Amino acid sequence: MSKNELKREGDINSGSLRAQWNEQLSGRSTQLLGEDERSFLKQSMSTPCLEAMADAEGCYITDVNGRRYLDFHGNSLHQVGYKNPYVVEAVKRQVEELPFIPRRFTADITIRAAQALVNKTTSKDYRVLFTPSGSAAVGLALKIARKATGRHKVISMWESFHGAGLDTISVGGEYVFKKDMGPLMPGVLKGIPYNGYRNLINSESPEEIASFCLRYLEYMIENEGDIGAILLEPIRATDTHIPPRSYFKGLRRICDQHGILLIFDEIPTALYRSGTFYVHQQFGVEPDLLVLGKGLGGGIIPQAAVLAKTKYDCAGDISLGHYTHEKPALGSAAILATIDYIDDHKLGERCQALSAFVRDELDRLAERHECIGDVRIAGLMISIELVKDRGSKESHPDLTERVLYYCLERGLSFKVSGGNCITWHPPLVVTEEELGFAVDLLDEGLSELVD
Ligand SMILES: Cc1ncc(COP(=O)(O)O)c(C=O)c1O
Repeated sequence: MSKNELKREGDINSGSLRAQWNEQLSGRSTQLLGEDERSFLKQSMSTPCLEAMADAEGCYITDVNGRRYLDFHGNSLHQVGYKNPYVVEAVKRQVEELPFIPRRFTADITIRAAQALVNKTTSKDYRVLFTPSGSAAVGLALKIARKATGRHKVISMWESFHGAGLDTISVGGEYVFKKDMGPLMPGVLKGIPYNGYRNLINSESPEEIASFCLRYLEYMIENEGDIGAILLEPIRATDTHIPPRSYFKGLRRICDQHGILLIFDEIPTALYRSGTFYVHQQFGVEPDLLVLGKGLGGGIIPQAAVLAKTKYDCAGDISLGHYTHEKPALGSAAILATIDYIDDHKLGERCQALSAFVRDELDRLAERHECIGDVRIAGLMISIELVKDRGSKESHPDLTERVLYYCLERGLSFKVSGGNCITWHPPLVVTEEELGFAVDLLDEGLSELVD
């Protein structure tokens, strides 16, 4: 196995701990997992499946044996919780009223959904296109940038993920998506992400790291030429490295100076997941193109969108998206209900209060456990890095995997990133008690599992 294959996102779904997990599965679960394997194509990080599900409601998923898991994974799409009654009702109403809007027609529901997204931006100076998936929305953003600048080259970041299409794996920085795929999209250059350089120099100074990353970007731009866009996740969803404001101010300045479009992929992180409605709003800059997805569909409808600054509405002579669901009736109903629910229930304020609570809890935990190398939190994006000891900061993937199964067996599901990073994305409707349960379980697990 190459170093690249080792350094990948996601859980380890083979190995002795998974075999032990499989042994405790019920007959019904084993039967469904077997049928799943015979029905679907295998793919890394997704198969074989862990369990068969029967229900998803609020912050919980329930398996076919009635066992409930507090779901801090949820593919980062359940900001308003599963089966949210507002969203369910709105989608049901839309199914009965107007389920589909054919091309060349429009409807009040989809206009209102687009306007609601624009109204949440700071400048309110954007136009929208909807797509059925995040990957398609990133592809669309790249096309708009090419059309607007006349330049096809793009800088994206190592270790990034922007979707699994051929265009989006080209800009993505994870080898597991590119392996065996042959030639990808030309004109893609890779910058060093904020967290990448942080790991390389082990610096504790965010400003110093940001300044290096920005200088490196300028160096690339000046030496390569013809760059049309810079694409990145403002806060990477998987491991919650939070660049300082100076990084974003610098990105904006560089893009303005060189006529480059700044694209933010906020697919898993928008809608208050990071503490502000749109992630970039906490950094005082606006992107030229903003890509949204996942939670936009309220955890029910697959829905994504691109917001482009009005001045980049310049592609009327070509077909940009042309998606079958380009004016998505059900997706629009879900977007409006999701935003209404967030506003009516003040989920933004709630997220910040819960963020402060979980920070205190995890800081206390880190004092007790030497294996907690770092805790990084933005809103309710939470990453806990496990190391062999704080001095060496050597990654501890074995312990992380043991903690994962320990927690799964006791009713908590989450994602493991980069081998040793426990990543929690709880729904914003989570309670302090539920966060406390997760912290206590982690505490117990670390006490029991650390050798
Ligand atoms: C940052 C980021 N961009 C893009 C995507 C792709 O979205 P989709 O799976 O809807 O194509 C994802 C999905 O995980 C993501 O996390």
